[in-house]
Amino acid sequence: MARRKIIAGNWKMNMTPTEAVALIDELKPLVVNDEADVVFCVPAIDIIPAMEAAKGTNIHIGAENMYFEEKGAYTGEISPKMLVDAGVKYVIIGHSERREYFAETDETVNKKVLKAFEHGLTPIICCGESLTQREQGITIDWIRQQIKIAFLNVTADKAKAAVIAYEPIWAIGTGKTATSDQAEEVCAAIRACIGEIYDEATAEAIRIQYGGSVNGANAAELFAKPNIDGGLVGGASLKPDFGKIVNYK
Ligand code: 13P
Repeated sequence: MARRKIIAGNWKMNMTPTEAVALIDELKPLVVNDEADVVFCVPAIDIIPAMEAAKGTNIHIGAENMYFEEKGAYTGEISPKMLVDAGVKYVIIGHSERREYFAETDETVNKKVLKAFEHGLTPIICCGESLTQREQGITIDWIRQQIKIAFLNVTADKAKAAVIAYEPIWAIGTGKTATSDQAEEVCAAIRACIGEIYDEATAEAIRIQYGGSVNGANAAELFAKPNIDGGLVGGASLKPDFGKIVNYK
């Protein structure tokens, strides 16, 4: 069975609530595509107005992060229950920027993944290597380690529903996209790793995105690869170009 494409924007720390509503109003006619899931992952404060602005459209609103506890004395954090109550279905977990600037580790990523599933949220689990790791030839080993820890104690049933985003750190925000062959090689290795942890059916079901300088001009070639099931898009998700990415064919 063909996997349904999932094309998600990651707005990062951009757009005030007012700007978020204006951007959704601008993009909603451009991102119509019945053949793909379209997700806008927005800053926490934008979730509720974005949800309202996206009502009646094919746009799903997602979160960029969440904490792995349900409630309590964790100043500044957002809980999975809060996301669910706001109507969120997707949540990005372990983006490389969270790992780099906010000390997230493979272990905290695993805790968040487990918690997201417990609440019926679909995690978009990020992995990716640095330029040094790529140059040292340890990309696949590194990614396999990230995946194995992220999925610790996750059942096959849950894993099937997960989304993995392969985002080489050197390609994020640099305009330097991985070639479609480089992206495909790693996405295929991720699928094989899922097959080893679980089974063939789980590996076939799980959706794997590529992220890192995706734009309207390179999306078609990337998304045509057999193991690339869509994209996680930063900069270009804030522009009309995102419509081209969603309608890449
Ligand atoms: P860019 O598309 O801006 O390179 O960002 C990619 C990314 O980090 C998406 O999560």
